[in-house]
Amino acid sequence: MTQFDLIICGGTVATASDTFDCDVGVRDGRIAALGTDLGAAGDVINASGKLVLPGGIDSHVHIAQPSGPDIVMADDFESATRSAAFGGNTLVMPFCLQQRGQGLRDAVTGYRALAEGRCHTDVSFHLIISDPTGSVLGQELPALVEDGYTSFKVFMTYDGLALADMELLKVFSCARETGALVMVHAENYDAIRFLTEQLEQGGKTAPKHHATSRPIAVEREATHRAISLAELVDVPIMIVHVSNDDAIQQIRWAQNRGLKVYGETCPQYLVLTEKDLDGLNMDGAKYVCSPPPRDKASQQACWRGIQAGVFQVFSSDHCPFRYDDPRGKLVPNGRTSFRWVPNGIPGVETRLPILFSEGVKKGRIDLNNFVALTATNHAKMYGLYPRKGTIAIGADADIAIWDPDRSVTISQSMMHGGADYTPYEGLAVTGWPVTTIVRGQPVVRDGELVGQMGHGLHLPRERSPYARPAATG
Ligand code: URP
Ligand code: ZN
Ligand code: ZN
Repeated sequence: MTQFDLIICGGTVATASDTFDCDVGVRDGRIAALGTDLGAAGDVINASGKLVLPGGIDSHVHIAQPSGPDIVMADDFESATRSAAFGGNTLVMPFCLQQRGQGLRDAVTGYRALAEGRCHTDVSFHLIISDPTGSVLGQELPALVEDGYTSFKVFMTYDGLALADMELLKVFSCARETGALVMVHAENYDAIRFLTEQLEQGGKTAPKHHATSRPIAVEREATHRAISLAELVDVPIMIVHVSNDDAIQQIRWAQNRGLKVYGETCPQYLVLTEKDLDGLNMDGAKYVCSPPPRDKASQQACWRGIQAGVFQVFSSDHCPFRYDDPRGKLVPNGRTSFRWVPNGIPGVETRLPILFSEGVKKGRIDLNNFVALTATNHAKMYGLYPRKGTIAIGADADIAIWDPDRSVTISQSMMHGGADYTPYEGLAVTGWPVTTIVRGQPVVRDGELVGQMGHGLHLPRERSPYARPAATG
């Protein structure tokens, strides 16, 4: 009888704190041994010359989310999690979006049904609260937190999603009482509406004006306001998809004052700029996302935020729409104004290679920091640690094996999701995940899909220790 189901041998293992050469023995989907000469196994993967890292956790992805009339997201759970696995991820965290007038439980039931039996990686849902009625905050949300939906996102902008300050305060207060972690999309709704109207009146309707309609001040103001409202009720918050130095300064200011304010940034803010929205014809629509990519100085600021620990997590904000599609970026009324172009870009497959190449290979961050930013901190912040996000005895065997020297020029032809373009077309990177293992089962092996759809499970989560109010530690 073999002692292990799988041994990964000869690789260099890295966690958020350590890097060491050893073999990894896997039994019953968990890491059972770290050492050398582990003996016999049902399957052996030779990882010599490779890095053996915790599988990526992408705690900010949108899958099969309604995005407006006649708009369809490019990924369902099958394609999104397949793409995630090819990008070295073993767990993604999408959202259950509550539509106005809809019960939260109803929203959760709908998304769970869409995901059931269709995932290649594990999934764990956040909620999106768009209609914080008395019964949502009084009964539904507390019950769902109890059931393991321990984080949710609120929006300060977007038609049908934006919450007023009074609503934000009520939601924050409910998060404090239930122990949920709040993610905040910080942009000033009225300012964007005002600027959009002005731009449209001036005939400035091309996709590039999406960025003009959401300048840095819009994000800075909302970031500061979210922090202040959270301070009033003493609730920790995570400011997601931060794009620039002004917003970073607000977060750093809060952190320096001892407030529990966390930050997330994304690849688009490191390697894209506003200029990408200025393509020929409608090409700029490929880069329409919110907040928009900024400029080189903002990219540098985001790197400094990563290096200084202002950001705890690096996520993709994967939100894919097909480009050449009337139900995607080329929706007919998108030609009349940027305001109708669906917001969001694909990125779950490219998040890790971009940070590895631009960060680790270029000497901006070390390998352990890379692991922390892309896996361990996501598990810690969102209540999945130590089962997920690390390589340790007893943890789930969620592992990505990387060829750290492979040179790849990113192109759509090598992507595995439902979109028909990648915003990172032509970006040269060094380092690529070659094998992805979810709970001991190879899902992608040497660049080939070998896993069965349905292996990915939905995971309820513990309350995050990072969601405890400052007053209680
Ligand atoms: O443009 C974006 N980021 N779309 C996704 C939805 C969101 O705000 O995260
Ligand atoms: Zn958002
Ligand atoms: Zn998002």
